[in-house]
Amino acid sequence: MTTGRTLDERADALERKMSDELDVLISKSALFNMADGQLGAVGMGLDLTTKYGKFFLMGDDPRLPKMPERPTLLDFFKYRAKGTNHLLQSATHALKAGMPETTILACLLHDIANAIFIKSDHGYWGAQLIEPYVSEEVSWAIRAHQALRFFPDESVGYSYPTQYVKHFGADYDPDPYIKDAYKRARNHKWYMTSRMITVHDIYSFDPNAEVSWEPFVDIVGRNFRQPEEGLGNDDSPSAHMWRTIRRPTKYL
Ligand SMILES: [Fe+2]
Ligand SMILES: [Fe+2]
Repeated sequence: MTTGRTLDERADALERKMSDELDVLISKSALFNMADGQLGAVGMGLDLTTKYGKFFLMGDDPRLPKMPERPTLLDFFKYRAKGTNHLLQSATHALKAGMPETTILACLLHDIANAIFIKSDHGYWGAQLIEPYVSEEVSWAIRAHQALRFFPDESVGYSYPTQYVKHFGADYDPDPYIKDAYKRARNHKWYMTSRMITVHDIYSFDPNAEVSWEPFVDIVGRNFRQPEEGLGNDDSPSAHMWRTIRRPTKYL
């Protein structure tokens, strides 16, 4: 629900803050406002350019780290993630267990949506983001891990996460689409690849473990088809998603 301040008031407050600090006007998409429990994009349809004598941002957001012109996968982690420890720990765990490269890459990227994009339905968004650049098996496994996390598989020692009990309560019942996705995944030929993501999806297998990208550079090189022109500059079906992550406050 939109509560309290009107759209104009919110836009005013936001733009006043921005105009003090920046030489451009920065708008907020509807989705960003929904995270604050409010509806509507800020800045749309308002004559703020005349009011503040500035233009709306149509390029890089000066508040965010500048990205190279031809950004790679690693650049997105470097400049758009706050940290990648969880992903590196999961992939390291899979590497040490002698998993195939497909599984290691799936572990390395399984929560990419959480890291640089969005948490809600993160398995689906993450899979879609990387789909044009990886094998079908990797993106399928990442999409399915979101549902599989809620269902134990004792045959490989995977129990329902205690962290989920803490986060969602002991009585949490997954949405019907998650239950359906689990049932479909259970009988799929790549079930075990996705299941292995959940097995290695460990929040802290060793709090003192030193993890780095170094062991994964070649695995990424062999299994992630990095476009020559840079992620987002290519014409893949998810190029726009990379562009939005690079420039999340571009006016249009
Ligand atoms: Fe996940
Ligand atoms: Fe995870």
